[in-house]
Amino acid sequence: MDIATGFRPVPIPTRLMRVGQSEISSDEKSWDAVLYDGQSVLIRNIRKDDIELERRFIEQLSPTSRRFRFLGTLVSPSDNLLRQLVVLDPARNVALIALVGEGRNQSEIGVARLSVEADDTCEFAVTVSDEWQNKGLGTLLMQHLICSAIERGIKSMHSIDAINNEPMREFAAHLGFKRAPVPDDATLVIHSLDLSATAARKHAMSI
Ligand SMILES: CC(C)(COP(=O)(O)OP(=O)(O)OC[C@H]1O[C@@H](n2cnc3c(N)ncnc32)[C@H](O)[C@@H]1OP(=O)(O)O)[C@@H](O)C(=O)NCCC(=O)NCCS
Repeated sequence: MDIATGFRPVPIPTRLMRVGQSEISSDEKSWDAVLYDGQSVLIRNIRKDDIELERRFIEQLSPTSRRFRFLGTLVSPSDNLLRQLVVLDPARNVALIALVGEGRNQSEIGVARLSVEADDTCEFAVTVSDEWQNKGLGTLLMQHLICSAIERGIKSMHSIDAINNEPMREFAAHLGFKRAPVPDDATLVIHSLDLSATAARKHAMSI
């Protein structure tokens, strides 16, 4: 733990090392990675033609994961919501998806996204398919998202989460996020990370 920043650098396990990177355009990058269990995944920026991948990803989440992600009772995403999730304003939004399989058998198994707010801060969300959780994918997606935020000059990131979201509580602590109550709503907490802290920048940029 870095006492000055409160950030606990997390060494990337060798199984999660990036094994290849190809730059497609300045706004679109992709990375190959291997999870703890040896399975390969591709991580890349979301595209506007990913709407059906994103629909299937949300619909196959367990009710608990969907509730924790959307903080409500969303069952099936509307076309309008899906468009908002895949057609992004590159000046304000980043969304990185994790994919397995090829062609028609390709499926989305995780996504991490951020939305820039005023004063160089951003809100983020991360979700991993239930059967792919606890393999290091959430960590990997967040490391790339943090890196992307730092590259954009964002100074801090935060997520508002259900207070009973225990997986997120441990996951956020593991990544060095601080946890605080949300004023006026005892059902929520805020997880935040100061990206201007030297240790956080150094750690995220090392991926
Ligand atoms: C929170 C969430 C994104 C975490 O994703 P994940 O892919 O399970 O996360 P990881 O596998 O990277 O990490 C989970 C834990 O498993 C550990 N882990 C799993 N397998 C491991 C292994 N083989 N060896 C070592 N550690 C392992 C990680 O170190 C980590 O531990 P820690 O958090 O206690 O330090 C996931 O639970 C989720 O999608 N939840 C539903 C949606 C949600 O709540 N999103 C957050 C609000 S937007």
